[in-house]
Formats: sequence, structure tokens, C-alpha cells
Amino acid sequence: MMLFLSHQSEPIRVLVTGAAGQIAYTLLYRIAKGDVFGKDQPIILILLDIPPMLPVLDGVVMELQDCALPLLREIIPTDKIEVGFKDIDAAILVGSMPRKEGMEKKDLLKANVAIFKTQGAALDKYAKKTVQVVVVGNPANTNCLIALKFAPSIPKENFSCLTRLDHNRACSQVAMHCGVSSDKVKNVIIWGNHYSTQYPDVHHAIVNTHGCELGAYKAVKNDAWLHGDFILTVQQRGAAVIKARKLSSAMSAANAVCDHIKDIWFGTKEGEFISMGVYAAGNSYGIPEDLIYSFPVQIKNKRWKVVDGMSTNDFSRAKMNATAAELMEERDAALDFLT
Ligand SMILES: NC(=O)c1ccc[n+]([C@@H]2O[C@H](COP(=O)([O-])OP(=O)(O)OC[C@H]3O[C@@H](n4cnc5c(N)ncnc54)[C@H](O)[C@@H]3O)[C@@H](O)[C@H]2O)c1
Repeated sequence: MMLFLSHQSEPIRVLVTGAAGQIAYTLLYRIAKGDVFGKDQPIILILLDIPPMLPVLDGVVMELQDCALPLLREIIPTDKIEVGFKDIDAAILVGSMPRKEGMEKKDLLKANVAIFKTQGAALDKYAKKTVQVVVVGNPANTNCLIALKFAPSIPKENFSCLTRLDHNRACSQVAMHCGVSSDKVKNVIIWGNHYSTQYPDVHHAIVNTHGCELGAYKAVKNDAWLHGDFILTVQQRGAAVIKARKLSSAMSAANAVCDHIKDIWFGTKEGEFISMGVYAAGNSYGIPEDLIYSFPVQIKNKRWKVVDGMSTNDFSRAKMNATAAELMEERDAALDFLT
């Protein structure tokens, strides 16, 4: 499906899985419009979903065409892994098995391990070796770890999972508390899992109030809130959205995916860091190595680096260890399914 041919640079191939789902509905538009890879970067969008969703994908394709977006060179809807993963520059793995009524956590994990094993192997076989892989589908950290393990020819550093939504939620909560816009809050950290043991930490966060930069604890002036309701609100925000909307976060999740990938492509701002689930090998925080764990990272030339040397007190340490323990348990259960 050819659209406009007005740009000179080579298009990049971007795969979105779960393309008929609700996150993708917002995400695809934002990518095709140039919000993620740049306003002068032509895109070939590959939409992968399961066979029963192909008619829905047809509708999504029609809508993308009807947006008449000049950067969008081609749209490839497919249910075939060898078509979906071929020569891709970016893989945004949103599709996963949702938890159904009465389904046990371990059965959900088992289904997703199978999906991400297949997709990891497909990355290994069909994608460019420079592909950047972002896992959104839950359990995002463990799914990412499984995909990474089945794609040994792709550098581990090219894999990350989304904790940017949690990061954005934390920034926004602090900003609202201080009565400033969210861009005035920087350097919050989400440690660990995307799930509810995650630890939103503002010990190193900075709030700009009336042109003056203050540590978050000084700006908020309410330690009890920061140690209590703030953490709980961020940890349980996903469940609160589901309760209210009867659907999980989609607009904010798609927005976070855009922020995450834009930072990979163009780098983080000078003096700032963001949160991202990355392979924990070699970290200086004593987190077990064979995990995808969310750390503070800075990114340059598409390479992330965990920010070392952040002081951690006993309160933080306990929470960082608890979320690592949850991830280890999830990883071990996932690896058991594979043997
Ligand atoms: N990490 C985060 O911050 C975060 C935030 C919100 C949602 N999520 C997760 O993102 C995922 C998608 O959410 P959604 O609201 O778009 O869900 P959705 O149910 O609306 O869409 C999921 C889509 O994935 C497809 N799919 C299932 N298995 C697939 C496979 N093997 N290959 C390709 N496609 C497949 C489904 O057919 C469906 O179209 C869920 O796992 C959700 O929990 C993660």
C-alpha cells in the first residue's frame, strides 16, 4: 500500500505487535505522524497480530491511510512472523496474552513465555542485528528477558522494557502536588518491575519551582506522603485506571512508548535520566544480573548506560530488593516452562 513519496531519506521498518489492540490504536498514529523517529524520517509500518484479528487490522490500515501522513510510506498488515520481523529496525512488542477471568498468574506467564520465545527466535532469524526491541506486553520485564534469551545474535543492550509509564506517573504526581507542570520535575526513578512491587523513588528527583531547583523532598514538604500514598498511587495506578475505564491504560501507555523510543533514538537530555527496564548485568546496585530490571538510565547514540552512584538508604534498599525478588521468582517460573 503506497502512500506519498515526497521524502529523500531511506524509510525505516517499524514492527508493532498487538497492532489491532488498544495501545496500538494510539501508538501507530503517533509513530506514523513523526512523533517518535523524527519529523523527517519516513516509516514502513508493519502491523502484526493473530489471525482472528486480521479484519480489525484492515480497519486500522484504512484509518492510517485516511490520515494522509506524508512520512508513512507503506503499511504491511500480517499474521506471519516471517513477514513481521523481516529486516526491521525497531520492534515494539505490545501484543501479549491478556489475563482472562479465572486464569491463574502462572498460566498467563506460561502463555506469554511461549509468545516471547517465538518472537525472540524471530528477531534472531529475520531482524537487522541493529534492531532496537521494546517490550510493552505484560509481564513486560520477564517477556523481555525471554525474547532476549532467544535472540542470541542481537546485543542484549538492544532490548528494553517499558517502565516509562510508571516514570511519567511519578513525575505527574509530584508535579500536581507541587502545583507545577510535569516538565518541571526530572530524575525520578522507577526501580525494578513494571508490576506493583516497582519502587518509585524521588530521593534524587529535582523540582523546578518559580525558577529555583529543589530536591523533591524539599519541594513536596511532606515525607509521609512521599513514603506512603505517593508510592502506592504510582504502584496501583494501572489497576485504578482499569477500575474506572473498565479497560487498561492505553493512551498513556502509548504516550510512554513514544517517550521511551524517542529517548533511545535521540538520547536523553543533558543532566537528566529516565527509567527503563534493561539487562541488569554489571549493575553497581547489587541487583541480580540475569534480570530485566528498571534502572535510571542515560542514553546517547542509541546506547543506554545505567546511572551509577545514586545513594540508597535502608528504606530504598528494602524496596529495590523486594521488586528484584519478585522478578527472580517470575524469571525462574518462566524458565521452568521452557525446560
Ligand atoms: N508496560 C507497561 O507500562 C504497560 C502499560 C499498559 C499495558 N501494558 C500491556 O500491554 C499489552 C497490550 O495492551 P492493550 O491494552 O493494547 O491490549 P489489547 O488486548 O487491546 O491488545 C492486545 C493485542 O495483542 C494481540 N496479540 C495477542 N497475542 C499476540 C501475538 N502472539 N502476536 C501478535 N499479537 C498478539 C491481540 O490479538 C490484541 O489485538 C498488555 O499485555 C498490557 O498488560 C503494558
